Amino acid sequence: MSDTTTLKATAAGSGASATERFLTDKTGASGSRTDAARVNTLATALITAVHDVIRSHQVTYEEYNALKSWLISVGQDGEWPLFLDVWIEHVVEEVVTAARQGSKGTIEGPYYVPGAPALPSVSSLPMRDTEAGTPLLFQGQVTGVDGEPLAGALLEMWQADDDGLYAQFAPGIPEWNLRGSIVTDDDGRFAVTTIQPAPYQIPTDGSCGRLIAAADWHPWRPAHLHLRVSAHGHEPLTTQLYFTGGAHLQDDVASAVKPELVLDPRSNGTGACEVTYDFVLDPNS
Ligand code: DHB
Ligand code: FE
Repeated sequence: MSDTTTLKATAAGSGASATERFLTDKTGASGSRTDAARVNTLATALITAVHDVIRSHQVTYEEYNALKSWLISVGQDGEWPLFLDVWIEHVVEEVVTAARQGSKGTIEGPYYVPGAPALPSVSSLPMRDTEAGTPLLFQGQVTGVDGEPLAGALLEMWQADDDGLYAQFAPGIPEWNLRGSIVTDDDGRFAVTTIQPAPYQIPTDGSCGRLIAAADWHPWRPAHLHLRVSAHGHEPLTTQLYFTGGAHLQDDVASAVKPELVLDPRSNGTGACEVTYDFVLDPNS
């Protein structure tokens, strides 16, 4: 390992980058206006749910003040994206995609960056000469729900490296390492060479880590590839793919594993693994 990659990824570092990234890329979401009646409904329901917790669990002033200081520290650490994407997003994804046909999706998480380098249908994700980890050939086809191949579909991939770290959110990693935008061929097919990511530990040195330690939980997500698959006339699919037999498939801290999303790569006899996974997109309504 080089000196730069031994720099520790800190909560302050990845939290601040995730906050900055969200405010830059998702201004449409955060800046859009929601109807006052809807705000009233949701804010009232949320506040009432908190009141119910306080009554049913007989919350003390000590506990109320601990919560207040913890909420303040989440903002100071820039860890709101981490907190929300780990403990809340999976239910939003469930509700929003309930009526969708085609492949299952799951949470986006805080580490998507638009505009990763464009790559042809058969390609390697950008990686270091010294990139650690078992090589993985990930291939498949993108179709619509009617089975029609989607030529020119965009498969955006991002993943952690063999240390469980994401480029642009941990120090010392080249900007677009293990991130790419693959375009499918005339038959909607793609074949991408990458490495198997390592399990990911949410930063333990910030507010989310303090909550995990205080509640005696664990900070782990199973190893995963992130994907966003989009094609003209279809709903974009945001998903993640996991690896059979991997640690924490049953107890993902972000509750984002679904049985349909677990890959079973086979060794191809040359030290690499291969797996085929097809994506089926729902047409826009
Ligand atoms: C978080 C990180 C991830 O890589 C992910 O997929 C989901 C959530 C997080 O730290 O919040
Ligand atoms: Fe992730």
